[in-house]
Amino acid sequence: MLVLGLESSCDETGAAVVDADGRVLSDVVQTQIGLHAPYGGVVPELASRDHLRNVPVVVRAALERARVGLADLAGVAVTNRPGLVGALLVGVQAAKGLAWAAAKPLVGVDHLVGHLLSAFLRRGPGDAPCPEFPYVCLLASGGHTAIYRVDAPRPEAIVELGATRDDAAGEAFDKVAKLLGLGYPGGPAIDRLAAAGRAGRFQLSAPMPSPRSFEMSFSGIKTQVAQLVANTRPALDAQSVSDVCAAFQSAVTAVLARKTLAAAEREGVRDVVLGGGVAANLELRERVTALATSRGIRAIVPPLASCTDNAAMIAYTGAVRLASGARDDWTLTATSATSLPQLTRKGRGRR
Ligand code: KG4
Ligand code: ZN
Repeated sequence: MLVLGLESSCDETGAAVVDADGRVLSDVVQTQIGLHAPYGGVVPELASRDHLRNVPVVVRAALERARVGLADLAGVAVTNRPGLVGALLVGVQAAKGLAWAAAKPLVGVDHLVGHLLSAFLRRGPGDAPCPEFPYVCLLASGGHTAIYRVDAPRPEAIVELGATRDDAAGEAFDKVAKLLGLGYPGGPAIDRLAAAGRAGRFQLSAPMPSPRSFEMSFSGIKTQVAQLVANTRPALDAQSVSDVCAAFQSAVTAVLARKTLAAAEREGVRDVVLGGGVAANLELRERVTALATSRGIRAIVPPLASCTDNAAMIAYTGAVRLASGARDDWTLTATSATSLPQLTRKGRGRR
């Protein structure tokens, strides 16, 4: 059962062909990072227009690499929420056109559910083991940061245990990098420089550190860095910039790792899974793995291509939906909000 997946929720245009066991036959991602870099963040209008150009290219490439035609597919899956609505609409409309032309079923997929199931993708030798239900997943990207309990591969069986009240973790990396003049996206640059920095030189702390709550906050630590930069005369030298990166990264990854493992212990699960672009962070991977090992919990860190935005996770989630009999009709539309119930309200905290 082969499913074509389309992803266009933010600044990556993706198309992939995946089977119902998660085997990835092709996974094509066209990133727009260069397009948005001069603005220090994603410009929605530019993103939509670029998706419009890229969708036909990535779809053709995904089908060619998988050596299949539209006739071989069991259906077409597309991210229809959450994300930039103008960007989502491009993928949704393209998926409708393809499904209509090929007379195949269409299913919409929640992008967050895709991330939460991405550990099931089978790409080859670098694969981590598949998690066992129920598991706890930390999803940390540029747009979302939350801890979930996943009981089954269905939105109704997924609960948010806590999320950030303000900035996503990746957003904090990007904003701190901008303050330090490191360019966009900031995560990889901070990760690299932090390796040469001394985390103890500057005192930075992420708010809400208590592992008893799974809510988080990352905008305060960004302000601490802004004040540090503004109050340092002459400007920070290269070593000091690395030291700030190390202090910031250490504070953020410590909170993420501690809360994720505390959630796993409270929920009594055996597996914790990482997802989202911030899962690329070396220190986060090491902290989560070390804490998990010390508590007899298995840490599953999927390959990077599965953590960052991709269409394979959308195709797989679509395959699970199709196998359960789900179908969407031509009225499928795009929505900025997730379908998953949210415990934390941005700016306000717990419900
Ligand atoms: O999941 P993703 O590719 O896109 C979405 O935001 O949905 O995540 C991108 C985010 C960016 O904020 C980027 O700075 C961050 O992930 N990121 C990292 C690293 N690589 C990417 N953050 C920390 N360390 C990294 N190595
Ligand atoms: Zn994402």
